[in-house]
Amino acid sequence: MGRLFKVFIILIFFALIGIQFIEIERINPPVVGDLQAPPQVKEILKKSCYDCHSNETKWPWYSYVAPVSWFVANDVEQGRKHLNFSDWEKYSSRKKEESKKEIWEEVRDDKMPMGIYTLMHPASKLDITQKNIIKNWASGQIL
Ligand code: HEC
Repeated sequence: MGRLFKVFIILIFFALIGIQFIEIERINPPVVGDLQAPPQVKEILKKSCYDCHSNETKWPWYSYVAPVSWFVANDVEQGRKHLNFSDWEKYSSRKKEESKKEIWEEVRDDKMPMGIYTLMHPASKLDITQKNIIKNWASGQIL
């Protein structure tokens, strides 16, 4: 190993330690209007979506390790901004209908749950039966 390379490795090592001290927010604000939905629907959403689309995020161990933690925190922040099941019952009926439509589109096109998430949480992947349950709920066939 060249001398310069060793110095480089040591610098990287200290940089990795250093970034662990950068504070990031991992907060779960209070739940004010949690989604009311049939149990079979709720179960799916809780398992596959709530980590990013609710205030009940289960922060995984890697959300404590920078720089991965930065990406996790960002996904949760953006996810909650777009759709937050913890506020659902405060949405207007119009917003609920729009969100349901979007939810079904995301699920149908395999865009949600995000690929990086299903990689770490394989059980969150939706099968055809689960997708159909979401579809029926989103289209108002089950309330
Ligand atoms: C790992 C975090 C994560 C998980 C898990 C997750 N989402 Fe998302 N979701 C996001 C992020 C981040 C965005 C906003 C950026 C984007 O559209 O990619 C988003 C956006 C959305 C949107 C809005 C799309 C738009 O065009 O505005 C919907 C609807 C949605 N997600 C539904 C779901 C559903 C339903 C599930 C569960 C089946 C789910 N998401 C699981 C992170 C997540």
